[in-house]
Amino acid sequence: MSETEIYKGLAGVVVDTTTISKVNPETNSLLYRGYPVQELAEKCTFEEVAYLLWHGELPTAQQLAEFETLERSLRALDPVVKRVIDEIPTTAHPMDVVRTAVSVIGARDPDASESTTEANLRKSVSLFAQLPAVVAYDQRRRRGEHLVEPRDDLGYSANFLHMTFGDVPDLVVVNAFDVSMILYAEHSFNASTFTARVITSTLSDLYSAVTGAVGALKGALHGGANEAVMHVFDEIGTADRAEEWLDTALAEKRKIMGFGHRVYKNGDSRVPTMKAALDTLVAEYDRPELGNLYDTLEAAMGERKSIKPNLDYPSGPAYHLMGFDTLTFTPLFVAARITGWTAHIMEQLSANSLIRPLSLYVGPEERHIEGGVL
Ligand code: ACO
Repeated sequence: MSETEIYKGLAGVVVDTTTISKVNPETNSLLYRGYPVQELAEKCTFEEVAYLLWHGELPTAQQLAEFETLERSLRALDPVVKRVIDEIPTTAHPMDVVRTAVSVIGARDPDASESTTEANLRKSVSLFAQLPAVVAYDQRRRRGEHLVEPRDDLGYSANFLHMTFGDVPDLVVVNAFDVSMILYAEHSFNASTFTARVITSTLSDLYSAVTGAVGALKGALHGGANEAVMHVFDEIGTADRAEEWLDTALAEKRKIMGFGHRVYKNGDSRVPTMKAALDTLVAEYDRPELGNLYDTLEAAMGERKSIKPNLDYPSGPAYHLMGFDTLTFTPLFVAARITGWTAHIMEQLSANSLIRPLSLYVGPEERHIEGGVL
């Protein structure tokens, strides 16, 4: 690579090795630690996948039982974090609340700057367990509802839904939610994960890296797209308006949220699995019109631009059907991706090198201040 060659957006640049996940756009596949993500979504719980991402292997029955016991014991919302959340105006975006909560949790951890793998694993599990309470409570307070305490007799996803809605929905809904968490968990050097690795590479702490990653995920070109997809659905309304809406949006050079991907050019490997989960929800809630709008917009986008949906396209309407407020969609992505981010933070530290690219200066040539001192 010559010094003056510019790789805008780092497109196509390989910056390091990883053993956590493999994205193969040619075969349209995604592997977590070697396992196809579709297989994990079909056969494993999100807890098992989290364990896999951190430890490199799926847990044995005993390891899983120990991990679940630990995770269930850490679920309650710290009263101080709750008080801080209560002080944040509801005009603030829920991603700002999540970002602040992670920062407060970190500031209250006496071992925040300890960076052994053991300490970072402990922090990772703790954030994994606490984030659902943060996300669920924030949605509830915006609706004028009280905090719902976690239940330690429920798995991760059932408990997440219980804390958000006050009850546990049908199994198909819990399963669809769990599948979405698994699909969102990890995706190599995406913008937020790379942010976490950049921060970690300076030998900053895990909480700082996660706080930065939340900020990166918030943007509409990355995690914010699942929220933006729902705004698009709301804007269009019904399937019969989709083509006209799309033609106008494309004529205005708008990016259509939930479509396109930096790495996959032939379709996102996670979409078929999430679309199947969406289909079960459409049937469960008897909302065929939403399914029609989804299919019509996808087909029209394919005809006009040959651009395929990414994971945010099916997950947006899926979260809507589950009953989440649109503003809560990206925080759900955080709750899932905390697993991948923290796995990458630990991997970065295990063979660290400061991430510091170069830039090509194109500003004024050297010049000097005219005249004397004022
Ligand atoms: N809508 C309309 N046109 C698009 C879209 C889109 N969603 N995505 C790509 N294109 C077009 C661009 O306009 C561009 O066309 P041009 O060459 O005629 O100018 C071409 O396809 C290449 O697009 P880029 O933006 O240069 O591709 P890049 O790899 O940088 O973008 C990105 C990837 C940012 C995801 C883009 O597809 C996008 O903005 N999509 C919408 C936001 C979105 O859904 N993000 C979620 C990403 S996945 C995730 O976080 C789970």
